[in-house]
Amino acid sequence: MQSPFTTALLRWFAQYGRELPWRGIGDPYGIWVSEIILQQTRIEQGRDYWLHFMERFPTVEALAAASEDEVLRQWQGLGYYSRARNLHAAARQIVEQGGFPQTLEGLRALKGVGDYTAAAVGSMAFGLPAAAVDGNVYRVLARHYGIDVPINSTHGKHTFQALAQELLPEDEPSAFNQAMMDFGATWCTPRSPRCVDCPLAQTCEAYRTGRVNQLPVKEKKLKIQERHFSYIYIRYKSQVAMRRRPAGDIWQGLWEPLFIEDAPLPDLACPLTMLARGVKHVLTHRILLADFYLAEPSSRPDLPIDYQWIDEHNLADYAVPRLVEKLMELLQA
Ligand code: ADE
Repeated sequence: MQSPFTTALLRWFAQYGRELPWRGIGDPYGIWVSEIILQQTRIEQGRDYWLHFMERFPTVEALAAASEDEVLRQWQGLGYYSRARNLHAAARQIVEQGGFPQTLEGLRALKGVGDYTAAAVGSMAFGLPAAAVDGNVYRVLARHYGIDVPINSTHGKHTFQALAQELLPEDEPSAFNQAMMDFGATWCTPRSPRCVDCPLAQTCEAYRTGRVNQLPVKEKKLKIQERHFSYIYIRYKSQVAMRRRPAGDIWQGLWEPLFIEDAPLPDLACPLTMLARGVKHVLTHRILLADFYLAEPSSRPDLPIDYQWIDEHNLADYAVPRLVEKLMELLQA
């Protein structure tokens, strides 16, 4: 039994679906080229490029026979040139295989083809019953079914993929996938959806509960914070200035040489030898970038009170963060 959603969507598509030059051509090559172009290009611009591209390379054999330079020239202005390089490489794969792959796995094995593109091309060219799920589909389904699982979480991706697959009519996968794309792109748009004249509004959960603008939900990824440290290893008469790291920050209780963060380096009345610049140290929610210096002053410098002078040959008794260990390894080298 077809869901009311699918029935209404297909009816909407029959009336409002866009006329696009690759629709209904049945040629897997042309359909594939259109999907690669539309991955990162708006449909108006994509249409013109598609027409030119197909004129210059009318078959997969013609594309495979061209030089990469020629393909890149035709792609000029579209951006994301790895798409063109992958397209060209995949055309050669296809010719070598002796024809266009007709299964999802076969399509998926082509350079530059992921789950979405394999399902899109497979359904439109070969009638494979695979739901092509992209940002449009997430939005349409999240709203219609009132699903607030974040679309960028693993659970969310599985949820929406499974729902789209369940809704897809096995005898009309091509129309269903393209209807979802067109409906998401022209009616159920991110900012000003046309709910007022939407034929699916009657069964739309977001519309019923006034949550159209709250759905879909996107999880805020913790922004990985970068911190910039400098360490100065100050050696004076075989002693080194060290302190224990205070509470309230990473590495509480571990020892370190003179530590500077986001501040100018102090004047120690002697030259600083740079040991390393931009040493990268990755923690769970932070990336540390550290510069290491050595200073060997001829008199004992005044330091903040939490620093103590420690005999260098006793250093092994002090627990230090791995980053400081790296500094010490450089000193020994
Ligand atoms: N976006 C990506 N592929 C599309 C297609 N075949 N029709 C409309 N929009 C699309």
